[in-house]
Amino acid sequence: MSEIVLSVEKVVKQFTGLRAVGGADGLSFSVRRGDFLGLIGPNGAGKSTTFNLISGVLKPTEGKVSLNGTDLSGLRAQEIAGMGLGRTFQTPRAFPSLGVLDNIMVGAQNPNEGPITALLGSWRGGDAKLRERAESSLERVGLIDRRHDLVANLSGGELRMLEVARQLIRAPRILLLDEPTAGVDPSLQVRLTGLLRDLHEAGTTLIVVEHNLTFLFDLADRIVVLQNGGLLAEGEPEAVRRDPVVVSAYLGSENEA
Ligand SMILES: Nc1ncnc2c1ncn2[C@@H]1O[C@H](COP(=O)(O)OP(=O)(O)O)[C@@H](O)[C@H]1O
Ligand SMILES: [Mg+2]
Repeated sequence: MSEIVLSVEKVVKQFTGLRAVGGADGLSFSVRRGDFLGLIGPNGAGKSTTFNLISGVLKPTEGKVSLNGTDLSGLRAQEIAGMGLGRTFQTPRAFPSLGVLDNIMVGAQNPNEGPITALLGSWRGGDAKLRERAESSLERVGLIDRRHDLVANLSGGELRMLEVARQLIRAPRILLLDEPTAGVDPSLQVRLTGLLRDLHEAGTTLIVVEHNLTFLFDLADRIVVLQNGGLLAEGEPEAVRRDPVVVSAYLGSENEA
């Protein structure tokens, strides 16, 4: 069995008056190298907050997250990204005044670059290698024909795929995707499925939050189910799909899709 790359240990995130992540004893789960983990749960269960805690956008109130055995408590989001962790946001982030290709190139060296430094950044020099990587990332998400378009002209689904491409160019070893299929049309969804299979085959560790359970259960090796910030269940997709606790708490009404 391959080693654990990510461990979430008794993590609690308290916002004023709300325990968004933690449940009764703190949230704990781990992910092995090369695993494809699906993270599911009703709206407000704490999935996006969990991503924020892993990627360093938020710090746990209690407990700790470790990546490759390193405690992430003292590290900033940018440092964690530098350790090979990529993530997309549930609401895509892009520089609207830049073209599609430029948007990909901006984030390549510095994932947290702001729009001003981005405009002055080294990528402006027309680095051919960087451009090649950017074009290949756009190809992989199905946006290569849109490379000269302004981001403002992309649909919601295309923006989401742009967000994935912005991460791909950095070749993350572990990639977290927050609802990648939301608003994405069927043909791009098929491409996304192929892309995720390729990344998985190439050994990338994947954690994907999804409402489209048909999509996710086909791809994932293992599913973690959150409810009210706590771990409701975890296991292989088939077992989770049939778990009476999961069915009555969550899947019952949503599993028809
Ligand atoms: N920055 C924040 N400040 C206060 N409450 C938040 C914040 N982020 C999320 N929450 C709350 O935490 C809970 C979990 O949210 P979230 O992680 O976004 O759930 P999910 O992604 O599973 O739908 C929700 O009740 C949400 O309103
Ligand atoms: Mg969310």
